[in-house]
Formats: sequence, structure tokens, C-alpha cells
Amino acid sequence: MIKINENYLKLPGSYLFSAIAKKVNEYSAAHPDKKIIRLGIGDVTRPLPKAVIEAMHKAVDEMADAATFRGYGPEQGYDFLRNAIAENDYKARGVDISPEEIFVSDGAKSDCGNIGDIFGVDNVVAVCDPVYPVYVDTNAMAGRAGDYDPKTETWTNLVYMPCLEENGFMPQLPERTPDIIYLCFPNNPSGAAIGYEELRKWVEYARANGAVILYDAAYEAYITENLPHSIFEIEGAKECAIEFRSFSKNAGFTGTRCAFTVIPKELKVGDVSVASLWNRRHTTKFNGVPYIVQRGAEAVYSPEGKAQVRELVDFYMNNARVIREGLAQAGFSVSGGVNSPYVWMKVPEGMTSWDFFDELLDKANVVGTPGSGFGPSGEGYFRLTGFGSAEATVEAIERIKNVFGK
Ligand code: MLT
Repeated sequence: MIKINENYLKLPGSYLFSAIAKKVNEYSAAHPDKKIIRLGIGDVTRPLPKAVIEAMHKAVDEMADAATFRGYGPEQGYDFLRNAIAENDYKARGVDISPEEIFVSDGAKSDCGNIGDIFGVDNVVAVCDPVYPVYVDTNAMAGRAGDYDPKTETWTNLVYMPCLEENGFMPQLPERTPDIIYLCFPNNPSGAAIGYEELRKWVEYARANGAVILYDAAYEAYITENLPHSIFEIEGAKECAIEFRSFSKNAGFTGTRCAFTVIPKELKVGDVSVASLWNRRHTTKFNGVPYIVQRGAEAVYSPEGKAQVRELVDFYMNNARVIREGLAQAGFSVSGGVNSPYVWMKVPEGMTSWDFFDELLDKANVVGTPGSGFGPSGEGYFRLTGFGSAEATVEAIERIKNVFGK
């Protein structure tokens, strides 16, 4: 008789952003006259850069001609893209990553979730709190998280690293030693960014404890200060880290899907090369990102592509500034939004994150993401994104000021 993976039954509710979408759709159906502004999910709104579109059009034409048509590509990605990544994202920052260490995929979310396939279920996993829910939920699905305690809203086997106002929303080295450490910088959801010294501390800690850092750098393009864009800028990181990167947030590929994971050849568990395991998984379960999409991603690194991506990022960062400054003027305590498209705000005294979500939706018709959806230490906080249109962002902040301003 068929048996299900019972770990799935332990998952509370639905995926955070699906739950929010459901709530907003219900509200919208009940109030069809309301103009809702969505600054909840971190989804981009600007069209793809022109250089990307042109490259994709050209690739479409190639697919229409028997002489240039492509079927299955290399599962790890085409050389043209892996070379461009190695050259522009790493070599240009003084980091030597070879194209063979780069695995092109359909998303950093998929890779962050799938990477657990190659690690044992009895590893101890540490996550920031608040945290991007994918890390937690996928470890729960794999049976690595233990049981969910609805009272504390935590999983019994996970190590939580609270990121609170008093520690600058930065994780502290945990008391219980983990085997797998998820770090995300610039951080989703808090927008906090990490400096060289701080990141060095984590690399040293991981190396000293034989742990692996799973480093999600999907938002690195939003860094405006002198901070590491890659964990591999830190000496020794190649022996203890895997990095996840994405074209979603810099070049607007949320609907186009292209990302990559970097596993250096130096990363070994005993004699086993972690990259070789990932390669085995990737080639078995994945047939590669479409050629057309990879040509589009390659164009991100052309001179025009780089300039257009810069414009996109600047556009969203201006929205983040409008949100951050507007909320501060209205008397809210805010952080993030400087090296990140996310602004993290404290909700008014006496309200929970979900109270604020409901009130904001009802009174200002603005959608954000409740901090508690990212973990118990997110309670009392709320996330807004800079990914909306400029006009909608200005209007959302005006509405919030009108309803909640002091
Ligand atoms: C978010 O809003 O946190 C994003 O949707 C994260 C993601 O890219 O999946």
C-alpha cells in the first residue's frame, strides 16, 4: 500500500506567500472597488532589460532554423553563460571560480530547496530567525527539522539564530553546533547586510566545526556599500560554502527563471566532492535551463545589459528609499532598504504582524508581508518591498502615513 512522506503532514498551513495571496484575493473579491497596492511578495514589476530581450529574440530565431536549433543542452548550463558568470560575477571581484564550479538552474529557490538532497537527514541545521521560509520548509519536508511546535512556532531539531533589533538583525554564533548553516545576505526579509569581518567570522566558525554554509546571495546586486557580494571573497570559504545566485532580482527574471549555484571543488565531506554529488543530482533530476533563457541571462553581462540592470536596480532602490524615508517620517522604526530592496519596519505598539497586515489591507489597501510569517523573531515586524512601480510606492506610503502616521 502506498505511503506518503509524512513529513509533509507536519508542515503548518500553506507556504507563506500562497497564504498571503489567498487572503488578498479574498479581500479583493469582497471589495472590487478598492485599488490594492501590492508590496508583499518580492516579485519584480519592470520589464526585462532590452539587451536581454534582444538576445532572447535572436535565440528564438536560432531555434527556428534546423542549422542552429538546440535540443537538450548541458544540464549544468551552456559554457557561454558559465564563462560569463565566472568572469563577471567572480573574476571581476578578484575571486577565482571556474565555470565547472557553476551550475545553472531555474531558480535560487529551487536550488536552496533541492540542495538538501545531497546531505544526510541527521545533520543539524541552523537558520536565521526571521528567515526565508524555503530553508525551513524544505528541511521539514526532508525530515531534518523534527516536529513543529505550534506554541513556539519553531521546529524541534532546527537551531534558530534570532536576528533582532538589539543585534542589528544579524545572526550570532549558535550555542548548539550546526552542520548546515543557512545565511542570506543582503537578508531576506530584514534587508540587513553583512560586512567582510562578520562574514569571515562565519567562515572560520564553519571551518572549525566542519559545517557547510549555504549562502543565499540572490540580492547581492542591491549592495550599495563596501560589502562582500560573494562569500567566496572571504579566504577559506571555498572549503566550507555553497553560494546561490539569481537573475530574478537584478535582471527581472522572476518569471523567466534562471539562476546558478556555485560549489567549489575544494568543498569536500571526507573524500567526497560536494560538487560531484550535486552534479549527479542535477544531471539526474534536471534537464537544463532553456537555451533561449540562458542567452538572455548571458546578455545581462554585455555592456548594455550591465547598464540596463544597473538602471533596474537603481529604480527599485529608489522605491526602497521612498518607503524607508516615508515610514521614518511617519514615526515608524525602520531598517533595511540601503543594501536591499526590502524595508523591515516595526508594527505599531500593541499589534501583531498579522494584525498590522489586516489593518493595512483594510484601511490603506496596501499589501505587505507579516514579519511573523518568516519566523517567531519576526513577530512585531513587517516587510515592504521596493519592487513595485514608482507611483504605487509613493501612493502606498502616503496611504500608510494617512492611516498610521503620528
Ligand atoms: C519573497 O518575497 O521573499 C520572495 O518571493 C522570495 C523569492 O524570491 O522566492
